[in-house]
Amino acid sequence: MCGIIGYIGNKQALPIILEGLKRMEYRGYDSAGVALFNQEKLEVIKKQGKFINLQNELKSRSITSSSGLGHIRWATHGEPSDLNAHPHTDCQNKIAVVHNGIIENYQELKRWLASQGHQFKTKTDSEVIAHLIEERNKTVPLEEAVRGALNHVKGAYGLAVISEKEPDKIVAARLGSPVVLGIISQGEYLIASDVAAILPFTREVIFLEESEMAIITKQGYKINKLNGAVSCHQPQQIEWDLDEAEKGGYDHFMLKEIMEEPETIKASLRGRVVLEEGGVKLGGLIDVLEQLKKIERIYIVACGTAHYAGRIGSYLIENLTGIPTEVEYASEFRYREKPLDKKSVVLAISQSGETADTLAAIRLANQQDLLTLGIVNAVGSSIARETKAGVYNHIGPEIAVASTKAFVSQLVVVTLIAILLGRQRNMPKAKAQEIIKELLKLPDKIEDVLNQKEKIEEIAKVYESANDFIFIGRKLSYPVALEGALKMKEISYVHAEGYPAGELKHGPLALIDQTWPVVAVIPQDSVYDKTFSNLEEAKARQGQIIAIATANDEEIKRIADRIVYVPKTLEILYPILTVVPLQLLAYYLAKIKGRDIDQPRNLAKSVTVE
Ligand code: M6R
Repeated sequence: MCGIIGYIGNKQALPIILEGLKRMEYRGYDSAGVALFNQEKLEVIKKQGKFINLQNELKSRSITSSSGLGHIRWATHGEPSDLNAHPHTDCQNKIAVVHNGIIENYQELKRWLASQGHQFKTKTDSEVIAHLIEERNKTVPLEEAVRGALNHVKGAYGLAVISEKEPDKIVAARLGSPVVLGIISQGEYLIASDVAAILPFTREVIFLEESEMAIITKQGYKINKLNGAVSCHQPQQIEWDLDEAEKGGYDHFMLKEIMEEPETIKASLRGRVVLEEGGVKLGGLIDVLEQLKKIERIYIVACGTAHYAGRIGSYLIENLTGIPTEVEYASEFRYREKPLDKKSVVLAISQSGETADTLAAIRLANQQDLLTLGIVNAVGSSIARETKAGVYNHIGPEIAVASTKAFVSQLVVVTLIAILLGRQRNMPKAKAQEIIKELLKLPDKIEDVLNQKEKIEEIAKVYESANDFIFIGRKLSYPVALEGALKMKEISYVHAEGYPAGELKHGPLALIDQTWPVVAVIPQDSVYDKTFSNLEEAKARQGQIIAIATANDEEIKRIADRIVYVPKTLEILYPILTVVPLQLLAYYLAKIKGRDIDQPRNLAKSVTVE
């Protein structure tokens, strides 16, 4: 997730663009940049790091321009650096592009453009857009050139383009990433990824729909479909205040990030699955594919929520590949006294890529010359750099301390890795196709769970005064139970324990009485009957049962006091659905209790101490 902005009108563009970028800082902090016309020449200024670095850089510059673009970056392709920062330009530095999204076929396009003589300056996917437009713009005007260029692009984009040849015009387009047009007055407009950037200047906006382009000049604007057909939009008034706007209208980043989960799944799958072949393409693993064919053991190292994703990942990898897989808390991994087997891989899972214990585990494995891999969200982070290969989540920054969308994405990515390893061994194509088909359906299925958020809020109200919760599940649902308990502790400060359902009778059952809600993760999977029996045991001690069950499970009604249904899916994919009600339950309980949800006490988003 990056942020784009463009301004055209009768005022100085730079202060307006900078104010808008500041409002979108939460969308990325790897770099920021602007493109403006300085005495009719296109000038691009960009800086690695937080927005403040760009602001400092611009202090000594005087640029008078009444139109321009800005960008705030969350890196996906190419490490965070001045060079890889946006805006990107064509060979002649006459066209500037800001882009939010991923161009899936950029390697192919880059090869073709290079064969036509184009010279690339960066390692980003986005730069190809500037060159594609340049190529077209040789024969047709900017609007047509952008339209023609986008015809060749596969992937997702919210983008804006300016050109020295037509300085009084901004062309913007969207497919899969948001673009909003702000109408300040007749002849003065803003476009941005997010209303947060627009609200300081106007409340009158138009949200571009998928496959639409906006052509904005000082004379007015028009919105077309990418195929040229005219679109009709009525401007609407935004009622949110600025703080709400950054959170997409939600009260907290945590809820916003949970609600982004359908998009999270799409982003983590984008360009990575080939259904017809039952194949998975993970660019970050290409260099180690031969080595991966020979590995005999996997150690997953991670902390907190990422560790629970790793536990689920170990089931998946063993189940789909037969490779023995162990999961360790990264903070404990270093105390192993035996040397690790050379045919092992150490796989780190980390949203931030900076967790000190996980990094230390990777360093230990590197010292022993093992193959190290990462599943990381933050591009260019320490873990991403120090592992030998890896896969990015590509889900934009996660701001709330409580990790939610990252967990869902980690499960998706680990499933992709399991399919890749499985296909290298003896997983039949049909089996891989079955999983891929179902992965592609998950965004809609998560949507179905999210639509039940009011019901989950009601459940939270019922148990508002409970002092203790126990979360139980078996097999793949056990780590989900652990994650549900962690979420509850961390943001509502209520004691919660996660337990394997089968272990209840070996001790914790003694705790259960009518004051203890028992949250059971009980989808219709291979251990359903056994988990059901464990629930009977809790029910017999007057435990209050909240069940996360599969749609149409009538039997569960016999025993559960409250039920949240999730759609049916494959057994190995249930955690991606069953965790969502638990995230929402923790969220609403914390909200009722008036907790500081996005920044819970004593915690930090990135734990860089051991
Ligand atoms: O950035 P990482 O994924 O490495 O972070 C690991 C844990 O610190 C993190 O998941 C933590 O447990 C979250 N606050 C849980 O919501």
